[in-house]
Amino acid sequence: MSDSNASAGSAPARIVLGVGGGIAAYKIADALRKFVEAGHDVVVVPTESALKFVGAPTWAALSHNPVATDVWSHAEDVPHVRIGREADIVVVAPATADLLAKAANGLADDLLTNTLLTARCPVLFVPAMHTEMWEHPATVANVATLRQRGATVLEPASGRLTGADTGKGRMPEPLEIVRTAQLLLTRADALPLDLVGRSVLISAGGTREPLDPVRFLGNASSGKQGYALAAVAAARGAARVTLVAANVELPTPAGVEVIRVGTAAQLHDAVLKAAVSADVVVMAAAVADFRPINAGAFKIKKSGDEPAPVVLEKNADVLAELVATRRPGQLLVGFAAETGDEQGDVLHHGRQKLARKRCDLLVVNAVGADKAFGRDDNAGVILGADGSERTIDPGPKNLFAAAVWDAVADLW
Ligand code: CTP
Repeated sequence: MSDSNASAGSAPARIVLGVGGGIAAYKIADALRKFVEAGHDVVVVPTESALKFVGAPTWAALSHNPVATDVWSHAEDVPHVRIGREADIVVVAPATADLLAKAANGLADDLLTNTLLTARCPVLFVPAMHTEMWEHPATVANVATLRQRGATVLEPASGRLTGADTGKGRMPEPLEIVRTAQLLLTRADALPLDLVGRSVLISAGGTREPLDPVRFLGNASSGKQGYALAAVAAARGAARVTLVAANVELPTPAGVEVIRVGTAAQLHDAVLKAAVSADVVVMAAAVADFRPINAGAFKIKKSGDEPAPVVLEKNADVLAELVATRRPGQLLVGFAAETGDEQGDVLHHGRQKLARKRCDLLVVNAVGADKAFGRDDNAGVILGADGSERTIDPGPKNLFAAAVWDAVADLW
């Protein structure tokens, strides 16, 4: 399944897509398309000001449903009550400061705000605004109110804003919005605010050990599971989410700081440094156990017919060092990508690895042809140092991530 494919996930659902009056509205046309392609029935409810950015015909054509902003069109149908009642999820994106304020205070002066009052399904707000507006005490209080009532309010991303300025306030990418909505459709309780105040460190991707300036020894890890862990941690309220990413080409999830590394040695240094202030470290990266010695400054030339032997030396075991130097109360989570062999199956190797690694949790998943690496779905078992074992059924990687955070939160 490709990166752009959003179909991994929930069964067809009725989605209300509330579009606020912000420039990011144009990006929501792409999210709408992804929802429809995934088989969902989407009713778009823009605000009056949203229509100044993207017109009603665009929403109607992409959703194949009529579009209204006020409560007076088709009044015989009582749309201001019906649309909210029938929804499986309401996604408000971009959620402007004004919309968040109206929702927090229960105002109902158009079809979208009426819908928010009548909906009893999960509600996902995706804010987008300038940094000053996001950080204003009024917005901070409104977001807190909405979260307290059970709505999911995503953290905005940092980056380029409408003008030449950059900062926090950018809308998360459409694919991230779609995946988060699908996660809530699959598991309405997947994003509880149970990581509030926690500092979370995750490693993702696969390291590359240079043989020479153009060649390397690497592995097939795509980083998708580590990125999903980071996105879900941010959505569950973690105060700080740091992602040490080895050779990953994925968009940075909203609310996440990415430190890019290449080799196992670089990953080792970055993780050990960031771990000093982390409450939990999740080692989802596929780290090379060995590296070629003397990776020279020059390209290895083909000399004669005999290949030159590759001599390897050992890399540090990052997880083992984390276990040896851990702060009191710090939780350590390892991953074990196993194939099983004549000695035993995937779980057998996982149990042995947990005993060897002495981390708090070991997330075991089967890898190989058509499994885990590079895909959008995953399945596995979380082994606890206390002997517990919980199965994670096959599903999208953010659902898998939610199960890992459930296990971490239980330990807290
Ligand atoms: N890991 C690490 N440092 C390494 C190798 C692995 O921190 N040099 C971490 C991985 O990120 C993962 C866990 O250790 O969380 C298990 O990795 P894995 O490669 O499965 O374990 P190994 O100890 O290398 O065992 P083996 O390769 O023999 O299965």
